[in-house]
Amino acid sequence: MEDFAPKAMAEIEEFRIRMLGKKGEVTAVFEEFKQVSAEQKRELGQRINRLKTAVQEKINQLKASVGESDTNNTPTLDLSRPGTADALGTRHPLSLVRNQIVEIFSRLGYVVAEGPEIEDDRHVFSALNFPPEHPARDMQDTFFIEKDPDILLRTHTSSIQVRTMETQKPPIRVICPGRVFRNEAISYRAHCIFHQVEGLYIDENVSFADMKQSILYFAKEMFGERSQIRMRPSYFPFTEPSAEVDVSCNLCGGKGCNVCKHTGWLEIMGCGMVDPNVLDACGIDSKKYSGFAFGMGVERVSMLKYGVRDLRLYFENDLRFLSQFESVI
Ligand code: PHE
Repeated sequence: MEDFAPKAMAEIEEFRIRMLGKKGEVTAVFEEFKQVSAEQKRELGQRINRLKTAVQEKINQLKASVGESDTNNTPTLDLSRPGTADALGTRHPLSLVRNQIVEIFSRLGYVVAEGPEIEDDRHVFSALNFPPEHPARDMQDTFFIEKDPDILLRTHTSSIQVRTMETQKPPIRVICPGRVFRNEAISYRAHCIFHQVEGLYIDENVSFADMKQSILYFAKEMFGERSQIRMRPSYFPFTEPSAEVDVSCNLCGGKGCNVCKHTGWLEIMGCGMVDPNVLDACGIDSKKYSGFAFGMGVERVSMLKYGVRDLRLYFENDLRFLSQFESVI
């Protein structure tokens, strides 16, 4: 500020002279005013007085803003005053959990891959083995535009996995965080916008056992060393076989409580061995390579980890909620 003020003050003074000085523009208007007819004087007089006041006020304002008042040249800047501390925020719980998921998988050699939220049918559905008109598309209804039904908002970040397979050669080990969209009514457990982290591992001889071990490692790192997982058969068009993964409820230690609906287990993700059709559709030789994929909702993992019972809290930006999570650093 000290360096800036003298220069700014000189500029303000220059402006004052240009407007209100002897040969100033406003002064010139007053000169012309002398020549107008008596009946015009009344109205014009008021207007040019307003102009002069406005210019004077502007000058005062500018002077005040560079730390000096109009009437004297003593600085109003009190250097002895304590500074205003910047209030430090906290990271959003969804960012915390997303970062943690990414960090855990990065220890297993996964690298982050990202992709667009506005996608086309190929990357969200058809390359992932969803035939046109297949009912599995209804499980992930999304938002289309009327003009071009090929353009849509991605329903899962599996689209990033397709983009990765199209452009990279195995071995592939990617983790894909991102925002996804589904045509869902908003409730305590669903939202039309949410976040996912999905993963993909492709190499020679990748087995179901590799997948199970990787997910168990993740569950223990995320929910605690004592966590167990179980897998239930499930269906996804892009994986075969497919499974739903449950983690033992860390609130009751598996004994059963409200949160796990007295089952002792909480559903955390879907997974499966990548369907050979998907590998072939993305230009990877399915005879040579195999792989597994998994995907989880960040809101869901965060709800389980922090015991949050209403998903809408994540989107309301209420500081009473947000400030309960770890601080930035
Ligand atoms: N893409 C699936 C979903 O959004 C999750 C998933 C990913 C399941 C990878 C299996 C394998 O529901």
